[in-house]
Amino acid sequence: MIYYFSGTGNSLHVARHLADALGERLCPMQGISGFPFEGEEEALVGLVFPVYAWGIPNVVESFAKHLLSHSPEREPRKASYLYAVMTCGDDMGYADRILEAALGRKLDAAFSVLMPNVYVCLPGFDVDSKEVCKKKLRQEETRVEEIAGCIRERRQVRMLTRGSFPRTKTYVLRPLFNRFLVTDKYFRVDASRCISCGRCSKMCPVGNILITPLQGDRELPQWQSHCTGCLACYHACPYHAINFGSATQGKGQYNLLALREQS
Ligand SMILES: Cc1cc2nc3c(=O)[nH]c(=O)nc-3n(C[C@H](O)[C@H](O)[C@H](O)COP(=O)(O)O)c2cc1C
Repeated sequence: MIYYFSGTGNSLHVARHLADALGERLCPMQGISGFPFEGEEEALVGLVFPVYAWGIPNVVESFAKHLLSHSPEREPRKASYLYAVMTCGDDMGYADRILEAALGRKLDAAFSVLMPNVYVCLPGFDVDSKEVCKKKLRQEETRVEEIAGCIRERRQVRMLTRGSFPRTKTYVLRPLFNRFLVTDKYFRVDASRCISCGRCSKMCPVGNILITPLQGDRELPQWQSHCTGCLACYHACPYHAINFGSATQGKGQYNLLALREQS
Protein backbone atom coordinates (compact mmCIF):
# COMPACT_ATOMS: atom_id res chain seq x y z
CA MET A 1 0.00 0.00 0.00
CA ILE A 2 1.20 3.51 -0.79
CA TYR A 3 -0.22 6.27 1.40
CA TYR A 4 0.12 9.72 -0.10
CA PHE A 5 -0.46 13.36 0.62
CA SER A 6 -0.25 15.97 -2.10
CA GLY A 7 -1.22 19.65 -2.16
CA THR A 8 -0.50 20.66 -5.73
CA GLY A 9 -0.19 17.31 -7.46
CA ASN A 10 3.56 16.56 -7.53
CA SER A 11 3.51 13.88 -4.87
CA LEU A 12 0.37 12.32 -6.31
CA HIS A 13 2.10 12.22 -9.70
CA VAL A 14 5.10 10.43 -8.14
CA ALA A 15 2.88 8.13 -6.06
CA ARG A 16 0.95 7.07 -9.18
CA HIS A 17 4.15 6.28 -11.08
CA LEU A 18 5.47 4.29 -8.18
CA ALA A 19 2.19 2.43 -7.70
CA ASP A 20 2.22 1.48 -11.40
CA ALA A 21 5.85 0.38 -11.27
CA LEU A 22 5.33 -1.74 -8.16
CA GLY A 23 1.76 -2.91 -8.76
CA GLU A 24 0.73 -1.32 -5.46
CA ARG A 25 -2.50 0.36 -4.37
CA LEU A 26 -2.82 4.05 -3.46
CA CYS A 27 -4.58 5.51 -0.49
CA PRO A 28 -4.78 9.20 0.54
CA MET A 29 -3.43 9.94 4.02
CA GLN A 30 -5.98 12.56 4.92
CA GLY A 31 -9.58 11.83 5.68
CA ILE A 32 -9.28 8.05 5.85
CA SER A 33 -11.19 6.41 8.64
CA GLY A 34 -9.29 3.46 10.03
CA PHE A 35 -6.17 2.00 8.53
CA PRO A 36 -6.64 -0.61 5.84
CA PHE A 37 -4.07 -2.93 7.39
CA GLU A 38 -5.45 -2.60 10.90
CA GLY A 39 -4.52 -5.61 12.98
CA GLU A 40 -2.55 -7.38 10.28
CA GLU A 41 0.96 -7.19 9.06
CA GLU A 42 1.49 -5.36 5.79
CA ALA A 43 4.54 -6.47 3.84
CA LEU A 44 5.22 -3.26 1.97
CA VAL A 45 4.20 0.20 3.13
CA GLY A 46 5.16 3.40 1.32
CA LEU A 47 4.59 7.02 2.26
CA VAL A 48 4.75 9.65 -0.48
CA PHE A 49 4.40 13.35 0.31
CA PRO A 50 6.03 16.78 -0.15
CA VAL A 51 8.79 18.29 1.99
CA TYR A 52 7.65 21.41 3.85
CA ALA A 53 10.29 23.61 5.47
CA TRP A 54 12.89 20.81 5.49
CA GLY A 55 10.42 18.70 7.39
CA ILE A 56 7.03 17.15 6.80
CA PRO A 57 3.52 18.64 6.45
CA ASN A 58 1.51 18.58 9.68
CA VAL A 59 -1.14 16.27 8.15
CA VAL A 60 1.63 13.78 7.36
CA GLU A 61 3.00 14.08 10.87
CA SER A 62 -0.42 13.29 12.39
CA PHE A 63 -0.88 10.39 10.00
CA ALA A 64 2.57 8.98 10.81
CA LYS A 65 1.95 9.23 14.54
CA HIS A 66 -1.09 6.97 14.18
CA LEU A 67 0.16 4.61 11.50
CA LEU A 68 2.07 2.22 13.71
CA SER A 69 0.79 3.24 17.10
CA HIS A 70 -1.04 0.67 19.14
CA SER A 71 -3.96 0.89 21.48
CA PRO A 72 -4.55 -1.51 24.42
CA GLU A 73 -7.07 -3.59 22.49
CA ARG A 74 -4.94 -3.87 19.35
CA GLU A 75 -1.64 -5.37 18.42
CA PRO A 76 0.91 -2.83 17.16
CA ARG A 77 0.62 -2.50 13.42
CA LYS A 78 3.63 -3.68 11.53
CA ALA A 79 5.14 -3.03 8.18
CA SER A 80 7.93 -5.38 7.27
CA TYR A 81 9.45 -2.91 4.78
CA LEU A 82 8.60 0.75 5.31
CA TYR A 83 9.82 3.43 2.93
CA ALA A 84 9.22 7.12 2.25
CA VAL A 85 9.43 9.10 -0.97
CA MET A 86 9.57 12.84 -0.39
CA THR A 87 9.13 15.33 -3.21
CA CYS A 88 10.89 18.67 -2.92
CA GLY A 89 11.64 21.70 -5.07
CA ASP A 90 15.23 21.93 -3.95
CA ASP A 91 16.44 20.16 -0.80
CA MET A 92 14.92 18.33 2.11
CA GLY A 93 17.20 18.73 5.12
CA TYR A 94 16.45 16.02 7.71
CA ALA A 95 12.78 15.59 6.78
CA ASP A 96 13.26 11.80 6.96
CA ARG A 97 14.28 12.07 10.61
CA ILE A 98 11.21 14.18 11.44
CA LEU A 99 9.12 11.44 9.83
CA GLU A 100 10.91 8.71 11.77
CA ALA A 101 10.32 10.56 15.04
CA ALA A 102 6.58 10.69 14.25
CA LEU A 103 6.49 7.02 13.22
CA GLY A 104 8.47 5.89 16.24
CA ARG A 105 10.71 3.66 14.10
CA LYS A 106 13.40 3.82 11.45
CA LEU A 107 12.51 3.74 7.79
CA ASP A 108 13.94 0.90 5.76
CA ALA A 109 14.48 3.25 2.86
CA ALA A 110 14.04 6.95 2.13
CA PHE A 111 14.21 8.80 -1.16
CA SER A 112 13.79 12.37 -2.34
CA VAL A 113 12.50 13.31 -5.78
CA LEU A 114 13.16 16.74 -7.23
CA MET A 115 9.91 18.26 -8.51
CA PRO A 116 8.77 21.75 -9.52
CA ASN A 117 8.80 24.15 -6.59
CA VAL A 118 5.42 25.39 -5.36
CA TYR A 119 6.53 27.51 -2.39
CA VAL A 120 6.02 31.23 -3.10
CA CYS A 121 5.16 32.90 0.22
CA LEU A 122 8.50 34.43 1.16
CA PRO A 123 10.54 37.05 -0.68
CA GLY A 124 12.87 35.41 -3.18
CA PHE A 125 10.72 32.28 -3.58
CA ASP A 126 8.79 31.75 -6.79
CA VAL A 127 7.72 28.90 -9.04
CA ASP A 128 10.31 27.45 -11.41
CA SER A 129 10.42 28.52 -15.04
CA LYS A 130 8.53 26.30 -17.51
CA GLU A 131 11.86 24.89 -18.77
CA VAL A 132 13.02 23.95 -15.27
CA CYS A 133 9.62 22.38 -14.53
CA LYS A 134 9.74 20.28 -17.67
CA LYS A 135 13.32 19.17 -16.95
CA LYS A 136 12.41 18.14 -13.40
CA LEU A 137 9.34 16.26 -14.63
CA ARG A 138 11.44 14.41 -17.24
CA GLN A 139 14.02 13.42 -14.60
CA GLU A 140 11.27 12.28 -12.25
CA GLU A 141 10.46 9.33 -14.50
CA THR A 142 13.98 7.84 -14.31
CA ARG A 143 14.22 8.62 -10.61
CA VAL A 144 10.98 6.77 -9.83
CA GLU A 145 12.16 3.75 -11.85
CA GLU A 146 15.38 3.75 -9.82
CA ILE A 147 13.41 4.03 -6.57
CA ALA A 148 11.05 1.23 -7.60
CA GLY A 149 14.10 -0.98 -8.30
CA CYS A 150 15.45 -0.37 -4.77
CA ILE A 151 12.06 -1.13 -3.24
CA ARG A 152 11.63 -4.36 -5.22
CA GLU A 153 14.97 -5.53 -3.89
CA ARG A 154 14.01 -4.34 -0.37
CA ARG A 155 17.24 -2.38 -0.18
CA GLN A 156 18.11 -0.51 3.01
CA VAL A 157 19.05 2.83 1.45
CA ARG A 158 18.85 6.61 1.76
CA MET A 159 18.90 8.44 -1.55
CA LEU A 160 18.31 11.99 -0.38
CA THR A 161 19.14 15.55 -1.36
CA ARG A 162 19.75 17.05 2.05
CA GLY A 163 21.20 20.35 0.78
CA SER A 164 23.50 22.63 2.73
CA PHE A 165 23.13 23.21 6.51
CA PRO A 166 20.42 20.52 6.87
CA ARG A 167 20.54 20.56 10.68
CA THR A 168 20.00 24.32 10.91
CA LYS A 169 17.25 24.23 8.33
CA THR A 170 15.32 21.36 9.91
CA TYR A 171 15.88 22.02 13.60
CA VAL A 172 16.15 25.84 13.73
CA LEU A 173 14.31 27.33 10.73
CA ARG A 174 11.55 24.74 10.46
CA PRO A 175 10.06 25.31 13.94
CA LEU A 176 9.99 29.07 13.22
CA PHE A 177 8.36 28.45 9.86
CA ASN A 178 5.72 26.20 11.40
CA ARG A 179 5.00 28.66 14.18
CA PHE A 180 4.61 31.79 12.06
CA LEU A 181 3.93 30.75 8.48
CA VAL A 182 1.76 27.63 8.56
CA THR A 183 -1.46 29.57 8.87
CA ASP A 184 -4.35 30.61 6.68
CA LYS A 185 -4.82 33.98 8.34
CA TYR A 186 -2.88 35.81 5.63
CA PHE A 187 -4.93 34.50 2.70
CA ARG A 188 -6.82 37.29 0.94
CA VAL A 189 -9.26 37.11 -1.98
CA ASP A 190 -9.41 39.83 -4.56
CA ALA A 191 -13.20 40.07 -4.87
CA SER A 192 -12.91 41.87 -8.21
CA ARG A 193 -11.14 38.81 -9.69
CA CYS A 194 -12.87 35.97 -7.86
CA ILE A 195 -15.71 34.40 -9.86
CA SER A 196 -16.85 32.16 -6.97
CA CYS A 197 -16.08 29.03 -9.01
CA GLY A 198 -15.24 27.07 -5.86
CA ARG A 199 -12.09 25.54 -7.34
CA CYS A 200 -9.99 26.57 -4.32
CA SER A 201 -12.39 24.78 -2.02
CA LYS A 202 -12.49 21.70 -4.24
CA MET A 203 -8.70 21.50 -4.50
CA CYS A 204 -8.00 21.98 -0.78
CA PRO A 205 -6.84 18.51 0.34
CA VAL A 206 -7.83 19.08 3.95
CA GLY A 207 -11.30 20.61 3.40
CA ASN A 208 -10.26 23.94 4.90
CA ILE A 209 -12.15 26.29 2.56
CA LEU A 210 -15.84 27.08 2.54
CA ILE A 211 -17.44 29.23 -0.12
CA THR A 212 -19.84 31.42 1.80
CA PRO A 213 -21.79 34.63 1.14
CA LEU A 214 -19.59 37.42 2.48
CA GLN A 215 -20.19 40.66 0.66
CA GLY A 216 -23.88 41.10 -0.14
CA ASP A 217 -24.79 37.90 -1.95
CA ARG A 218 -21.27 37.33 -3.38
CA GLU A 219 -19.87 33.97 -2.40
CA LEU A 220 -16.20 34.07 -1.51
CA PRO A 221 -13.77 31.55 -0.05
CA GLN A 222 -13.32 31.49 3.70
CA TRP A 223 -10.48 29.59 5.34
CA GLN A 224 -11.40 27.52 8.38
CA SER A 225 -8.14 27.63 10.38
CA HIS A 226 -6.94 24.07 9.84
CA CYS A 227 -4.64 24.85 6.95
CA THR A 228 -1.66 22.59 6.30
CA GLY A 229 0.06 25.21 4.16
CA CYS A 230 0.09 23.36 0.83
CA LEU A 231 -0.93 26.37 -1.32
CA ALA A 232 -3.30 24.30 -3.47
CA CYS A 233 -5.86 27.15 -3.24
CA TYR A 234 -3.35 29.77 -4.41
CA HIS A 235 -2.08 27.69 -7.34
CA ALA A 236 -5.50 26.36 -8.39
CA CYS A 237 -7.23 29.74 -8.72
CA PRO A 238 -7.77 30.35 -12.44
CA TYR A 239 -7.74 34.14 -11.93
CA HIS A 240 -4.89 34.54 -9.41
CA ALA A 241 -7.50 36.02 -7.08
CA ILE A 242 -5.94 34.44 -3.97
CA ASN A 243 -2.86 35.88 -2.32
CA PHE A 244 -0.91 35.17 0.84
CA GLY A 245 -0.63 38.69 2.24
CA SER A 246 1.32 40.75 -0.25
CA ALA A 247 4.07 38.11 -0.53
CA THR A 248 2.54 36.33 -3.51
CA GLN A 249 1.50 39.41 -5.52
CA GLY A 250 2.91 39.05 -9.01
CA LYS A 251 4.31 35.57 -8.32
CA GLY A 252 3.71 32.60 -10.61
CA GLN A 253 1.27 29.75 -10.23
CA TYR A 254 2.04 26.08 -10.73
CA ASN A 255 -0.31 23.84 -12.62
CA LEU A 256 0.93 20.30 -13.19
CA LEU A 257 -1.97 19.31 -15.41
CA ALA A 258 -1.50 22.30 -17.72
CA LEU A 259 2.24 21.60 -17.94
CA ARG A 260 1.68 17.97 -18.83
CA GLU A 261 -0.77 18.97 -21.55
CA GLN A 262 1.85 21.31 -23.07
CA SER A 263 4.73 18.81 -23.07
C1 LIG B 1 4.78 25.15 2.75
C2 LIG B 1 5.79 24.61 1.80
C3 LIG B 1 7.10 24.43 2.21
C4 LIG B 1 8.05 23.90 1.32
N1 LIG B 1 9.31 23.66 1.78
C5 LIG B 1 10.22 23.11 0.95
C6 LIG B 1 11.54 22.79 1.42
O1 LIG B 1 11.87 22.94 2.59
N2 LIG B 1 12.44 22.31 0.54
C7 LIG B 1 12.12 22.10 -0.78
O2 LIG B 1 12.97 21.69 -1.53
N3 LIG B 1 10.86 22.34 -1.25
C8 LIG B 1 9.92 22.84 -0.40
N4 LIG B 1 8.64 23.09 -0.86
C9 LIG B 1 8.31 22.69 -2.25
C10 LIG B 1 7.56 21.36 -2.29
O3 LIG B 1 8.14 20.42 -1.42
C11 LIG B 1 7.51 20.75 -3.68
O4 LIG B 1 7.17 21.68 -4.64
C12 LIG B 1 6.59 19.54 -3.68
O5 LIG B 1 6.89 18.73 -4.79
C13 LIG B 1 5.12 19.89 -3.69
O6 LIG B 1 4.39 18.68 -3.64
P1 LIG B 1 2.82 18.55 -3.89
O7 LIG B 1 2.56 19.13 -5.26
O8 LIG B 1 2.56 17.09 -3.84
O9 LIG B 1 2.11 19.31 -2.83
C14 LIG B 1 7.68 23.60 0.00
C15 LIG B 1 6.36 23.81 -0.41
C16 LIG B 1 5.42 24.31 0.47
C17 LIG B 1 4.00 24.51 0.01
